[in-house]
Amino acid sequence: MADDTSIFIGASRKPDDSYQRAEQLLLQYGNRHGLVTGATGTGKTVTLQILAEGFSNAGVPVFCADIKGDLSGIAMMGTAQDFLVKRAEQIKLDPYDFQEFPVIFWDLFGEQGHPIRATVSEMGPLLLSRLMNLTEAQEGIMNIAFRLADEEGLLLLDMKDLQALLANIAERADEIGSRYGNVTKPSVGAIQRTLLVLEQQGAAHFFGEPALRISDIMRTTRDGRGAISVLAADKLMMNPRLYATFLLWLMSELFEVLPEVGDPDKPKLVFFFDEAHLLFDEAPKVLVDRVEQVVRLIRSKGVGVYFVTQNPLDIPEKVLAQLGNRVQHALRAYTPREQQAVKTAAETFRPNPDFDCSTAITQLATGEALVSMLEAKGVPSMVQRTLIRPPSSRLGPITPDERRKLIQESPVAGQYDQVVDRESAFEMLQKKAREAQDAEEQARQAGSGGSRWTIPGFGNDDPAPQSGSRRTPAPRPSNRQTVAEAAIKSVVRSVGSSVGRAIVRGILGSLSRGR
Ligand SMILES: Nc1ncnc2c1ncn2[C@@H]1O[C@H](COP(=O)(O)OP(=O)(O)OP(=O)(O)O)[C@@H](O)[C@H]1O
Ligand SMILES: [Mg+2]
Repeated sequence: MADDTSIFIGASRKPDDSYQRAEQLLLQYGNRHGLVTGATGTGKTVTLQILAEGFSNAGVPVFCADIKGDLSGIAMMGTAQDFLVKRAEQIKLDPYDFQEFPVIFWDLFGEQGHPIRATVSEMGPLLLSRLMNLTEAQEGIMNIAFRLADEEGLLLLDMKDLQALLANIAERADEIGSRYGNVTKPSVGAIQRTLLVLEQQGAAHFFGEPALRISDIMRTTRDGRGAISVLAADKLMMNPRLYATFLLWLMSELFEVLPEVGDPDKPKLVFFFDEAHLLFDEAPKVLVDRVEQVVRLIRSKGVGVYFVTQNPLDIPEKVLAQLGNRVQHALRAYTPREQQAVKTAAETFRPNPDFDCSTAITQLATGEALVSMLEAKGVPSMVQRTLIRPPSSRLGPITPDERRKLIQESPVAGQYDQVVDRESAFEMLQKKAREAQDAEEQARQAGSGGSRWTIPGFGNDDPAPQSGSRRTPAPRPSNRQTVAEAAIKSVVRSVGSSVGRAIVRGILGSLSRGR
């Protein structure tokens, strides 16, 4: 039933409930994004599952989050349960085959999948400020911190690095403040405390190396199927802001890394954003605008973004307008607010004279939805009442044993499992501060301001250490650098020229490796 150009979603029904026609998602419009909505228990996850199956079979890699663990069954072969077989018959899905899919499990905490990490530097100030829920003034300081680190060649890999940099900035607050504006010790201190809270919530796991290589979520199998990356998100959901920021970061990474492809025959990757409302809850306007921009532009990189949430009103209008392929499961309409939501949801569809959309939305059965997909020339199809197909993979979760086995056999096994803690800002600042202290101490003991062991010469990484003796005498105490200042400057000297050059940040402020 599905061919090379489309994914079979289900069958629409006529007003008398008899079979009407197959409903499909055209792969050529798979990058025109989509939306899956509906109240609890109406069939959103199963819809996500069958879409992921369809994309995988078409050779398109998929990334999705598994909020409740019930999507993990997509890695196992389904079984012919009566209600599924009955549904298959109703929609003329013949043959109804069972299949297991190539899944790579990921987990920010490294428990239910391979750890996913990003470096602080790649994440960038905008997303980090959002993650930490910083005030505007604090965000300003974060921007300065990143600018300093970028300019001065300090590698910000993990949370330790950021803490060290902030400590350093607090110490240099006056100097930095006069150069960049509003930086005070107390305001930096407030950010440092927020960072501690974030660490206590487990975010430290996520920052560091080895960072995720985008190519690892874009794999295909030898038999031409797209890998399905499933992110364990049950524990992650306890920190919704980390969840949302992480997915945003991933989306922006994809955007920054992937080349333009125009309008491909099928997407290069499809990205499902479950619990999408978390992305926009309390998000400042500037972030919403940027997200809107990324969603709009990522299309031409061949990436389709599918938002999954209870209600279409959860998504800002500008973003909503870009979601071409839509599956609306049932909504409740008890309260006036719910009734309004139903009405609005109904109005987003191209009407079908056969039925009233808002009435239908409240009457849909489980696993039934109003469906409108982009058809010829990218125009939305007339909305149809559609019974969604049953999955070919298992409905419901896999067992811990099955998961463990799949993680061991995964193509990225062993590549991300150990943290690598290479020398970065924390170590550099620590080392330099120690050296600066030693140097001061020695200078003091030497009793002369002119010794070549005073601060200007302490940088042992200096390519021409011999020149120390020919240096001008140490600065007078009045303009003498603090330990931290000296440390920073020395670091700049030693690595600034190679790392600190022209760093360009993308729309969401993230930074990508190996572009
Ligand atoms: N297309 C379908 N074919 C057959 N059964 C379905 C289909 N969709 C949903 N169901 C049945 O409905 C149940 C609930 O669906 P699902 O878990 O997808 O709901 P949900 O909207 O994701 O709920 P929640 O908001 O609680 O996560 C499934 O476990 C399954 O039994
Ligand atoms: Mg669900």
